[in-house]
Parts: sequence; C-alpha cells; structure tokens
Amino acid sequence: ARERTFIMIKPDGVQRGLVGEIVARLEKKGYKLIAMKFVNASKEHVEAHYEDHRGKKFFDPLVEYITSGPVVPMVWEGTNIIEGSRSIIGATNPTTATPGTIRGDLCIEVGRNLIHGSDLVESATKEIAHWFKEDELATYSHVA
Ligand code: CMP
Repeated sequence: ARERTFIMIKPDGVQRGLVGEIVARLEKKGYKLIAMKFVNASKEHVEAHYEDHRGKKFFDPLVEYITSGPVVPMVWEGTNIIEGSRSIIGATNPTTATPGTIRGDLCIEVGRNLIHGSDLVESATKEIAHWFKEDELATYSHVA
C-alpha cells in the first residue's frame, strides 16, 4: 500500500554531517519527500513524541539526546514505506544492525543511533501530525 512515514535525523546525524547521506539513501530508494524541517525541538515536544517509552531507564537520557541540538524531521511517502524504510534504517541497536543499513554502516551506540522511523501506520499518522501542520506537507503536480 502507498504509505507515509515520519523519519527524523537525530542531533548526532546533524553534528556528524550525515544529513545529505541519509536523505540520499531514502531518495535513491525511490521514496518521495513530502516535508522536511530543521529545528531545535523542545523537551515537552520530544517527551510527547516518545510518550510510549516514558518510565523506561533510557527515557531521560533519550530526551536529553534528542534536544541536544537541531534535528531534521521529515515525512516520506512510498509503497510499503514503513517496513521498507525501517529495513534501510536498520535495527535500533547499531551493534546488530545489518551492514548496508544506515545504522549498520554509520553508528555504534543505541543511545546515538542517528535516525528515527515510525514502526506502524498508526504511529506514523500520530508522529506526522505531532511534527507537521497539514499545510507543511507538500503536494506534487507532476508524477514522481
Ligand atoms: P528510536 O527508534 O528513536 O526509538 C526509541 C529510541 O530510544 C531509540 O531509537 C534509541 O535512540 C533510544 N534508546 C536508547 N537506549 C535504548 C535502549 N536500551 N533500547 C531501545 N532504545 C533505546
């Protein structure tokens, strides 16, 4: 099915100069960029994004990490993109992420894993609405 997903380059990706490389991998796959911004997210905004992880031992360090610098939240669209983009991103833990994936190739710490991607249609819908207003989502008049 044609789907949209929320993908965010985390502060380590920005600091390490990997924005172009990460965007290129998604573009070359054939996914379509629908929205993108470059922002410092507030603590409250990030806590709400990671609401499901509240109470876990990595929650506070996670929020501190994601608010430590600018992030690149994006919306991408394509056939089965939720599963497909997660396979390009690789496992949450970079130690076991397969080489060839973004995390498998470019990082080593679960607490600095470069990128976030929605795991389900419902979380994608929720996360897109949390980070973007409807009028920030682009429309294409040509076939792409
Ligand atoms: P993400 O896909 O954004 O979803 C939750 C994030 O929590 C995860 O990527 C990691 O950045 C972070 N995290 C930190 N420690 C852990 C851990 N032990 N297990 C899972 N996620 C972790």
